[in-house]
Amino acid sequence: MPKPDFTQYVIEANRRIVKDICKPFILSDGTYKRIMDLFLVDIKKGLGKYTHKKASVKCYMTFVEKLPSGCERGKFLSLELSGDVCRVLCVNLQGDDDFKIEWQNFDVPPEIKVDTACHFFDFLAQCLSDFIVKYDLQYDELSLGFTFAFPLKQTSISKGILVKWTKGYKVSGVVGHDVIALLQEAIVRRGDLSINDIIILNNTTGALISCAWKHKEAKIGVLISSGCNMCYLEKSKHIQLFKNAGNYTPTMVINCEAGAFGNDGALDFIRTSVDFTVNKNSMYPGQQIYEKMVSGLYLGEIARLTLLDCINAGAMLKGILSKEILTPTAFKIHDMSQIELEEPGHYAITRKFFEKMGYKHTTNGDCDNLRYICSAISTRSANMVAACLACLVERVGDPYLIIGADGSVYRSYPHYPSLLRNRLKKLVRGDFKFDVVQAEDGSGQGAALLAASTKKKKK
Ligand code: BGC
Repeated sequence: MPKPDFTQYVIEANRRIVKDICKPFILSDGTYKRIMDLFLVDIKKGLGKYTHKKASVKCYMTFVEKLPSGCERGKFLSLELSGDVCRVLCVNLQGDDDFKIEWQNFDVPPEIKVDTACHFFDFLAQCLSDFIVKYDLQYDELSLGFTFAFPLKQTSISKGILVKWTKGYKVSGVVGHDVIALLQEAIVRRGDLSINDIIILNNTTGALISCAWKHKEAKIGVLISSGCNMCYLEKSKHIQLFKNAGNYTPTMVINCEAGAFGNDGALDFIRTSVDFTVNKNSMYPGQQIYEKMVSGLYLGEIARLTLLDCINAGAMLKGILSKEILTPTAFKIHDMSQIELEEPGHYAITRKFFEKMGYKHTTNGDCDNLRYICSAISTRSANMVAACLACLVERVGDPYLIIGADGSVYRSYPHYPSLLRNRLKKLVRGDFKFDVVQAEDGSGQGAALLAASTKKKKK
């Protein structure tokens, strides 16, 4: 009789434990359909006159009532603030499909994210000024599209009150204030910038607009980066808070602020113990519940806590906890994507990550298990984003539409676009056809285009 292979037995037993721990991340088609239905309920609440106040998914008006026609011309500036980067662009729209972009990224120093409004907006104005000098634009009178990737209550295209901070920001003196006015004050304080008009938009709106410039069927925008959010073109008659509904254009882009989906407990039926811990330890407990399950700022921490569970169960790394792995946020989305990028059966990159975490001797089984954990978590993210997008595809109701997608997770995480597309295909009813297109330089370009079409309208 052949001797039993104990090593293989241990590998399989450990894998079973890891799979068991990851099981709550693996959801059925039926569950994703339920998420889709719940999201629709929340969209309606957000748009409703009497339900908006209490709604988690706020569905803010953007006052973008028309998407670009493709006829926009001229030179426009864009300033975009999202996670760790402030991006300034100059877009020169020269004709059909013909444009020139110059751009520069500025790292946002971590201390600025928690500083005062005055320092924070001075920093943004400084980025603008550096860019303008570098590209010799001092003598141009430019309009600016300001992409502000945080929840804004807008009362027009040129007024946006910050409702709350997300994604690790907590600058004092901004919540409740018009961010355009604060930027304008900083520009006046400098005295060296000549900017005509400023319009404001969310980065999802930017992604949709830049996509719509090339594809007239674009009706939905999605951003999956350090945060996550969606926007879509809604019929004005359904926007109950829009006083002019019916009098003007029949549609308006709605910024869903989907990251807050689940703040009222709607997603508790799928949240894992790890999701609850991530929320409890975060900067904004109880807020951005959906975002904390899907976006780049949180996926690494979900993976780290799941790995801790597997180690504690004795199924990985001989049950030993290193100092590094015990450090909150030590595991980043970048590590996860490197691990998932490595060919199955190859272990060099995963071992390097383990070494960084203080583990010198790891087995192939440990590496396979870590890859499994990352894939369970990233797949849930793509599926949950697909569920909300599927809801929007059916809500817009066009026989064919295009979703403009952008954000570092969408662009760089291995297999993310195909996971998203495949799940969408499963969820959306067969009579609706769609494509997901990457919005090239999405929000920045979109902001400049919006500044251009707004200027055209004013003339
Ligand atoms: C913000 C949204 C933004 C999204 C993606 C979220 O945290 O609330 O406004 O669109 O991140 O950047």
